[in-house]
Order: sequence, then structure tokens, then C-alpha cells
Amino acid sequence: MFQSPIVLRVKKRQKPLEDGVSRPVKVKFEDVRLYLVERKMGHSRRSFLTQLARSKGFIVEDVLSDTVTHVVSENSQALSLWTWLRGCDLKNLPSVHVLDISWFTDSMREGRPVAVETRHLVQDTVPVLPECSTPTPEVKVSQYACQRRTNTENYNTIFTDAFEVLALSYEFSEIEGQCQAFRRAASVLKSLPSAVRRLGEVQDLPCFGEHTIGIIEDILQYGHSFEVEKILSDERYQTMKLFTSVFGVGPKTAEKWYRSGLRSFSDILTEPDIHLNPMQQTGFLHYEDISRAVSKAEALALGNIIDEAVHAITPDALTTLTGGFRRGKEFGHDVDFIVTTPEPGREKSLLPDIIDRFKQDGILLYCDYQASTFDVSNLPSLRFEAMDHFAKCFLILRLKANKVEGGLNSAEEDDRGWRAVRVDLVSPPMDRYAFALLGWTGSRQFERDLRRFARIERRMLLDNHTLYDKTKNKLLAATTEKDIFAHLGLEYLEPWQRNA
Ligand code: UTP
Ligand code: MN
Repeated sequence: MFQSPIVLRVKKRQKPLEDGVSRPVKVKFEDVRLYLVERKMGHSRRSFLTQLARSKGFIVEDVLSDTVTHVVSENSQALSLWTWLRGCDLKNLPSVHVLDISWFTDSMREGRPVAVETRHLVQDTVPVLPECSTPTPEVKVSQYACQRRTNTENYNTIFTDAFEVLALSYEFSEIEGQCQAFRRAASVLKSLPSAVRRLGEVQDLPCFGEHTIGIIEDILQYGHSFEVEKILSDERYQTMKLFTSVFGVGPKTAEKWYRSGLRSFSDILTEPDIHLNPMQQTGFLHYEDISRAVSKAEALALGNIIDEAVHAITPDALTTLTGGFRRGKEFGHDVDFIVTTPEPGREKSLLPDIIDRFKQDGILLYCDYQASTFDVSNLPSLRFEAMDHFAKCFLILRLKANKVEGGLNSAEEDDRGWRAVRVDLVSPPMDRYAFALLGWTGSRQFERDLRRFARIERRMLLDNHTLYDKTKNKLLAATTEKDIFAHLGLEYLEPWQRNA
């Protein structure tokens, strides 16, 4: 740990205590442990009340855990508070006092924890079923996307779009935990067979916490979330979103540009100190085209073009459409293909040969080729979420309108007769095909949960190359995706059920 020098520095700089409130005070009430709920109360008021209570000898916990005896909230709706509490997985929840701020103010006034009266309680409001109705059997939603069926139909876009804004905003600030929390909750909502209409409907869902429930509550009540609106109008968020929409520009570069005061594409392109790498140059050059969605018809046309090229090189090669289009999506941001040959070792030169052909055909606009670094003897890789080691290339191809059934997905006034499209090709050895296919079919959230499930529930390591059983200390072979699901003891999910 490298923390101590920082701690020392902070201590040195600390202002002298003026108000006497934060000076350590002897604990007077050992049996009472408070937790103040931040939601609705707000961060600064919570800090203030925490210090106040501590100055009077109360124990105030920063984190909600089983040691807490009194939960205090302010202005919270009972249902949303209880929904959140139930999701916190406390073993002693039935014995915890869930209290309104009035109990807290009474106690502060008296200088001791006052007896809990009914008027202090935030009553649990479990929705009561009409007497005659038969209770519907509870269908438990799994916390893992690989145990949920998620097709392309999303009935909850109003919530999932809001969650994506929050997730992205946390991603831009590199707050990984919160980012994942919103992506997981969004993923759960995507698997639901209908739109959420009441807060009670999310109360028993996994992956929902205080923050996510609060956003749902706001959207249900006001039609939108104030927190999301605030982010959307935030200059940093808007600029980061704009800059990262360019091919080759990641959050790090976007942040650097933002910090140096740049706000628009013309700011970047006219700034003499900025040197764009070839990927970014192409990104700007074809910005209009590659930020426009790719249609399924265009993906199929590209499939034919790649198939033709591959077969001219080796007749027994195989081209598989993967990524979002394999999951049944109508549109995508790029098109992903796996190309393989049964001839061992041949997959290493396959992509360079395909690229050469595209060059000859005059359709190669950009190519970033990464040779294979795959080595069977390095399996299993213990690096979680690492990029795979197969030969791959990130391309921009020139797609002609006459190759696409029904024509291109371009702007109406565009009469060039072609468009630029992002295409990814990956070329694993044949015996790794099933793992590569499963990994590249996605969705990203599905893959994340599949790996998490393997690791936590099965003590296995899964990546795009292999599946390793840590208990038995061995690699598990698979020739199809079904084999991998079977090894993991999971019900098989078709690609179109993996849109988590
Ligand atoms: P994409 O980013 O292409 O997403 O990655 P998508 O699901 O097809 O969606 P759109 O429509 O293009 O936006 C497809 C899958 O390929 C995996 C990703 O993890 C994702 O699951 N992938 C991508 C890899 O495994 N390795 C890579 O180097 C790139
Ligand atoms: Mn894709």
C-alpha cells in the first residue's frame, strides 16, 4: 500500500478544529449504532448530522451493515426506502429500527437515544394483494445475465437510456463500480417481458440499489430524472461524448483534449499542437459514415464480400457473422466476423491475405492489423477481461450501394453510391473456434456476467481462448458453444437471447 505518505500530507494540511464538532468524543451509547441514509438527505447534510451525532457520543456508521441498529432517513418515501433496504442483504433487517429524521432530532435535543415510538417509524409498505387473488408464482430473476433470456426487444428504454447516461458519466470519471452497477441494473431491465410501471416491480430485482431505485422513482414520478438531465447538460460530459465518438479516440485522449480547453471538432482540427494518429485521422475523415448505423442488409453484403475473398484464398475457409448482428440486431456500429480454416497454422496468414485482396479491389480505406500472440502453452490466462490474443484487424471498408439489397443506409442527399463501414475480423485457430465465437457474439454485458458466473459460481476461468476448471486443474475442451454452456452447468442460450 502506498497510502501513508498521502495520509500524512492530508493530516498536515488539516485546518485547526474551530467548531469543536469533529473533535473525537467519547462514545456514550455503545448499544446504538446509527446509519444515515444519504438519498434525499444529501451528502453535505448527512456529513453535518453525522458530526453532530458523534459530538454527542453517538456511534454513526459510514457503511450500512449488520452492526447497524438504527437506520435514519429524511424525506424518503417508505416504499423506496424499504425496497432499497431489502436489497442490502442484511440478516438482521427485521430487528433494525427504520426511522424518520424526527427520532434523530428528538435524540439530539435530549442528548441521548430516545425511545422509539410509532410516530418515528418509517412503516414497511408491502403491497397487499386483494384477498381473492391467487398469488402469482414468484419467478426469480438471476443476477447473472447468462441465466436470463434477453432478446432484442427492450420495453424499458426510458430507464435503460437514463442508466446508460449515468454509466457513461461514471466511466468518464473512471468510477468503475458505479458504472458497472448501472450497466448491470440496465441489463436486468432489458430482460423483463414488459415495461416497469410501479416502483414495487423493481423491488425484488437483483442488481438494484438505493441509487438505481431512486432514478427509477424519479422517472416514474416526473417522467425524467433530474440527475440525468444535469449530466446531459454538463459541458464535460457532452464534450467527452463527442470526442469519444471518433474512431480511435478513447476516454484518455478525450479527457486530455477537454482539459486543454478544446470543445469541438474544429477546435481539434485547427489546433496546431495536436497530432492525430492514423486511426484518428481516418476517424475524422469518415466521421459521418462510420457514426451512421450499419444495417443488417449492409452486414450481409459485407459477409458476401468477405466470403468471396476468403474462398479465393483457401476454399475450405469458414466465415461467420458474429457480434450484434448474430444476436439478431437490425443495426450495429460495426460488423464483426470470425474467419477460420481447418488447416492448422494457416489462420496466421489468412488475414494478411484477405487484407491484400481488399487493397487490390480498392475497397480498403483503413487497416489496423494485429498479428496473433496466441500461445497454447500460456493457457489459461489469469488476466480477467484481457483482450484476446488471436490475429485480428480493425478495418474501414468501402461498401458499394449495388452490393446491398435495398441500398445503403445513407443520408437521402448522399449520391456517392458508396459508404465507409467499420469491420472487425478475427482469426482464431480452429480448435479455439467455439470460445472465440462465444466471446465475440457478446453482448459485452453478457460476456462479463458469463465470466463472473464461471469464476464465482463454478470456480472456472473463461475467456475467448479457453475454459479452465480450477477445482480439477484442467482445461475443458469444446467444439461448440453448447459444450461450453454444458461445462458451466448453464441452460443453453441462443445468440438472440444474449442481448443483455
Ligand atoms: P462490438 O463492440 O462490436 O459490440 O463487440 P456489438 O455487440 O457487436 O455491438 P455493435 O452493434 O457493434 O455496437 C462484439 C463482441 O466482441 C467482443 C466484445 O466483447 C463483444 O462482446 N470483442 C471485441 C472481443 O472479444 N475482443 C475484441 O478485441 C473486440
Ligand atoms: Mn459489433
